[in-house]
Amino acid sequence: MKNKSLVSINDYSTEEIEEILRVAEIFEKNPNQRILENKVIASLFFEPSTRTRLSFESAINRLSGRIVGFSEVGSSSVSKGETLKDTIKTVANYSDLIIMRHPLEGSAKYASEVSDVPIINAGDGANQHPTQTLLDLYSIKKTQGTLENLNIFLVGDLKYGRTVHSLLMALAHYNPTFNFISHPKLRIPEEYKLFLDSNGIKYFEHETFTDIISQADIIYMTRVQKERFTDLMEYEKTKNTYVLKNKMLKNTKDNLKILHPLPRVNEIDTDVDSNEKAYYFEQAKNGVYTRQAIMALMLGLIPN
Ligand code: CP
Repeated sequence: MKNKSLVSINDYSTEEIEEILRVAEIFEKNPNQRILENKVIASLFFEPSTRTRLSFESAINRLSGRIVGFSEVGSSSVSKGETLKDTIKTVANYSDLIIMRHPLEGSAKYASEVSDVPIINAGDGANQHPTQTLLDLYSIKKTQGTLENLNIFLVGDLKYGRTVHSLLMALAHYNPTFNFISHPKLRIPEEYKLFLDSNGIKYFEHETFTDIISQADIIYMTRVQKERFTDLMEYEKTKNTYVLKNKMLKNTKDNLKILHPLPRVNEIDTDVDSNEKAYYFEQAKNGVYTRQAIMALMLGLIPN
């Protein structure tokens, strides 16, 4: 994993993914260490973020590293017309690794091809969000005790939701059953169904899930991604399709956990927050330990 960029979750083997999850457990027990003391990490966010940017910053601060970067394009020379290539080549001169979120699909791959230091994809358009996937896997393993043979419900914007795309590819290593629940206009793209078919993974598509909710081990809710729509009328038609409410969780499995990459708009009612099956805020916290593990392994550093 040393010096290896993380652009797509498929860049890492099952063994490498499990090594990250193992090291994340070490960081959860001891998150404050000085192992990044002489490292400078660049954080380039061309799109808004709360959790990804701040959990990376928290992870770096807790490991005594330093951060350079920007959280909006307007404060960088991109606003003067500088290309992504020139930006990355310049920032690579100032840092040991680069974390980048960008609205264009494929931008992280391109950055990794022109950079002299490893790139971590913090989300590229509707494509992938692999560090979110690693914290999702960590959260699933922590709450279920295993990643194997789980019944996973993916609900909401399965077309534009990049976290869903990365997560289903990673879970495909562990013989899941997927239930995809979406508005017809926001179905999981064909390419992901082909991927699941070629790997012999079972999946079912639905427009409602109240009648099958008792089968779920994990319900992964997602926000309808307004920023990816070219036609806002389409967004208006689809935005309120699914709202998970506490009363819907009555006849669900004891081990069920509700996950959401966040931010939420209204797809999980706040009355779910106090249910012990709600796990989305703990999930966001797991992002610190998982991102500590990703950076440490990428830089060839061993935690205590
Ligand atoms: N889950 C996630 O990517 O959240 P942010 O957009 O706040 O980083």
